[in-house]
Amino acid sequence: MKVSKLGSDVRFSMKWLIVALAVCITASVVQGASQSVAWCYHAPTCNDTRWPIIAAQFCNGTRQSPINIKSANATVDGNLTAFTFFNFNSTTALTKIENTGKTVKVLLASGVGVEGGGLSERYDSLQFHLHWGNGTAIPGSEHTVDGKRYPMELHIVNLKSSYNGNTTAGIADPEGLAALGFFIEAMSGNETGQPASWKTLTSYLTNITREGDSVSVASGISLDDLLPGVDRTKYFRYLGSLTTPNCNEAVVWTVFKEPVKVSKDLIDLFSNTVRIGNSTSQLMINVFRNVQDGELPVRTSSGSRPCYSLGLIVLILVLCRS
Ligand SMILES: *[C@@H]1O[C@H](CO)[C@@H](O)[C@H](O)[C@H]1NC(C)=O
Ligand SMILES: *[C@@H]1O[C@H](CO)[C@@H](O)[C@H](O)[C@H]1NC(C)=O
Ligand SMILES: *[C@@H]1O[C@H](CO)[C@@H](O)[C@H](O)[C@H]1NC(C)=O
Ligand SMILES: *[C@@H]1O[C@H](CO)[C@@H](O)[C@H](O)[C@H]1NC(C)=O
Ligand SMILES: *[C@@H]1O[C@H](CO)[C@@H](O)[C@H](O)[C@H]1NC(C)=O
Ligand SMILES: *[C@@H]1O[C@H](CO)[C@@H](O)[C@H](O)[C@H]1NC(C)=O
Ligand SMILES: *[C@@H]1O[C@H](CO)[C@@H](O)[C@H](O)[C@H]1NC(C)=O
Ligand SMILES: *[C@@H]1O[C@H](CO)[C@@H](O)[C@H](O)[C@H]1NC(C)=O
Ligand SMILES: *[C@@H]1O[C@H](CO)[C@@H](O)[C@H](O)[C@H]1NC(C)=O
Ligand SMILES: *[C@@H]1O[C@H](CO)[C@@H](O)[C@H](O)[C@H]1NC(C)=O
Ligand SMILES: [Zn+2]
Repeated sequence: MKVSKLGSDVRFSMKWLIVALAVCITASVVQGASQSVAWCYHAPTCNDTRWPIIAAQFCNGTRQSPINIKSANATVDGNLTAFTFFNFNSTTALTKIENTGKTVKVLLASGVGVEGGGLSERYDSLQFHLHWGNGTAIPGSEHTVDGKRYPMELHIVNLKSSYNGNTTAGIADPEGLAALGFFIEAMSGNETGQPASWKTLTSYLTNITREGDSVSVASGISLDDLLPGVDRTKYFRYLGSLTTPNCNEAVVWTVFKEPVKVSKDLIDLFSNTVRIGNSTSQLMINVFRNVQDGELPVRTSSGSRPCYSLGLIVLILVLCRS
């Protein structure tokens, strides 16, 4: 008797939970490589306002990144489930760090990868790199959310595993690449050298001050270590492009909602240490593309939607009343 009564109560509650979720989801919906060119971030002749002219094949396209994400417009998609990350916990996954003259890039060992999260197949992680402004004073993330720009943005670049490392094939496929974007926010207090993983990462910047410099990364820090405190089930998803020429429209973008928190002193090191050319060149600052106005459709994982907790509240209310 007790067991069957409990069973019918649960069924009754589930019905209301489903109704509540349906209302919520409906409400949310209603709210609803070719050749490289000489491009730059800094000079009027080659900065991002000129890319659509100097790299016209793609940079003038209609699904260009980055974008300002309007969170109220993002539609909830239940297919945007959790990811599985491979070797993100490996402390030997970061192999080399280099100054490309445009960014600081870290190469990743083979075996690092990602699947799930609504991606069509497994993708291999090739490298990560960063975008920034001028220290914490001038933020330089590429994506913005409801107009907010973060101090930095970290991009993990992944290629469909089936292409076996052939990036030429990847950029020719509208979903050949998957980019994972993480915002970097300054810690609010007077902490320095935090987190330890970022202190280690930034310690290499003095070794790569000039364009073309690179050094090996010693074992000890993993991708997980560099991404503490981020709930990786909460993210935005849209189809976009590379954010540097040739701006190929080949990227499935994942932009995580929660930022990684890094102390101000470490964020400042990027704009204080590395240069865009030789030792007399200017410091590498404001290395991000401005947002593009394609009004691209953005989806969001359901993990973070307030409507889910509204559904739970309804469930709890129903359970309490019966
Ligand atoms: C980029 O170049 C345009 C002219 O092409 C200029 O108006 C703009 O100020 C430049 N921006 C930067 C950041 O240099
Ligand atoms: C971009 O430029 C190319 C080459 O000039 C041109 O064929 C194409 O129509 C342009 N696309 C858009 C969206 O303006
Ligand atoms: C989820 O994926 C399925 C199968 O690929 C597809 O039919 C469905 O339209 C997707 N749902 C959304 C909301 O995109
Ligand atoms: C990394 O995670 C995998 C799967 O969860 C686990 O089997 C492995 O022991 C972990 N490796 C390290 C170095 O923590
Ligand atoms: C960047 O910030 C530094 C220190 O705050 C300042 O001296 C410099 O003028 C800034 N550069 C630009 C281009 O804004
Ligand atoms: C890479 O992919 C391109 C485009 O599909 C193809 O033409 C090329 O032969 C491939 N390269 C290798 C080394 O397989
Ligand atoms: C950090 O700030 C707190 C108050 O906000 C202060 O008590 C503390 O002395 C500061 N620490 C350092 C190292 O400046
Ligand atoms: C980086 O440079 C410092 C000196 O500035 C040197 O002691 C250290 O060995 C270098 N590290 C690497 C990995 O080359
Ligand atoms: C640095 O590069 C500039 C132009 O790129 C050049 O004029 C200058 O001689 C170089 N300086 C050194 C020390 O190599
Ligand atoms: C986003 O929402 C605003 C109103 O809130 C609407 O005017 C706009 O067309 C929407 N954009 C997209 C891409 O759905
Ligand atoms: Zn990037």
